[in-house]
Amino acid sequence: MPYAPVTPPILAELRELCGSDQVLIDDEARARYGEDETEDLSYPPEVILRPGNVGEVAGILKLAQRERIPVTPRGGGTGLSGGALPVHGGILLSVERMNRILEIDRLNAVAVVEPGVVCETLQDCVEEAGLYYPPDPASRGSSQIGGNIAECAAGPHAVKYGSTKDYVLGLEAVLPGGEIIRTGGKIRKDVTGYNLTQLLVGSEGTLAVVTQATLRLLPLPRSRLTLLAPFASLEQATACVSEIFQAGVVPSACEFMERDAVAAAEAHIGVSFPHREAAAHLLIEVDGMEDGSVAREAEIVGKVCLARGALDVLLAEAPAKQAELWRLRRSVGEAVKKISVYKEEDTVVPRAALAPLVAGVKAICARHGIASICYGHAGDGNVHVNILKGEMDEARWRDHLSDAIREIFELTVSLGGRISGEHGIGLTQKPYLSLALSDTEMRLLRDLKRVFDPHHILNPGKILD
Ligand code: LAC
Ligand code: ZN
Repeated sequence: MPYAPVTPPILAELRELCGSDQVLIDDEARARYGEDETEDLSYPPEVILRPGNVGEVAGILKLAQRERIPVTPRGGGTGLSGGALPVHGGILLSVERMNRILEIDRLNAVAVVEPGVVCETLQDCVEEAGLYYPPDPASRGSSQIGGNIAECAAGPHAVKYGSTKDYVLGLEAVLPGGEIIRTGGKIRKDVTGYNLTQLLVGSEGTLAVVTQATLRLLPLPRSRLTLLAPFASLEQATACVSEIFQAGVVPSACEFMERDAVAAAEAHIGVSFPHREAAAHLLIEVDGMEDGSVAREAEIVGKVCLARGALDVLLAEAPAKQAELWRLRRSVGEAVKKISVYKEEDTVVPRAALAPLVAGVKAICARHGIASICYGHAGDGNVHVNILKGEMDEARWRDHLSDAIREIFELTVSLGGRISGEHGIGLTQKPYLSLALSDTEMRLLRDLKRVFDPHHILNPGKILD
């Protein structure tokens, strides 16, 4: 689809709309906003706009539709599938200045926020009110709620508490032509027509730009324990995961890291991990309102791990010790990227298929002679597969990479899974979407896109071509 360029008269109109200071066209800004956390991809936009309110967002989208200029919305720029990359140039619409927490309504246990609020800032603020906002992607220190909603971000606590979708009760959003919609509200139930709220969650900024969200909050768990269980084999670690749930415990996190993931994180943040020689670790957290019940759950988890071959079970009670383990886990993603050129996949299967998925991924990569590092949200069957180029020569890497990815996704789907659990399809997984969706389903997605965005100006080139 041919798009119009951002000409000087259009820039003048945009400056009028947003204020000159919030219209950036310098090379440094274009380079910075042309990247996210996805591999080494870079697509500088023509102009960066930083609107301050919904009226300005509506004005931008109206103008963009009129002129046929592509608009790419952006939150914290921490995405891992290229969702915020302006692949067709045009306007980069950053919501960073719309960063107010408008309300924490304790009576209804909801927060009303603008999309530019940083996830961790919201969590801290909510905790002060004795409440809890669980979705916590590894990037929560800089990812913004608008981006979390766009990608349906999750993280370690999704295993007990669910992902972003489970907390979005209502949205204000702007459609490509500038019309504003308000869905849902401070309500727990809503069968008032199609569920537009949930259609927008995870739509990767391709249907509308979220300008306000009403989010469900929970009571803050008062007690928390973290366990670390090293295993001599990847098979034992992954097979143990379903056993924990079968023993009647739903841990608040159940993560796994293979040895190379731990080693990369250790090198990255300069701490040493207990049992670093183990083939794989499970990092498990239990939480609740009372110390006694949490301790009992931790004991059950520990027993299950030992019965399934854990070399040891370390219990971290002190908050500082727990924080250190989590810092290490949260740094794995960044650490692994530093090793070499890489591709990251975000496979998800039913929990009980975790062991065959990980074993299969390892076998596929070995067959292609490609190094891989697996880690992720074991309790959700959500495995981040990092495929590393290492010393492999360029031609061989190119030859093998797409075959290996295709085989990994075919395996994932054959196990009842999907090709992204929490990072989204965005740009990088687009070629593989039809492995998971039927022709009819692909057509429905295309039709939905057309209904919301008939001129394809909103985040074009994402999810679908
Ligand atoms: C993590 C990110 C990469 O789990 O999703 O660390
Ligand atoms: Zn993750």
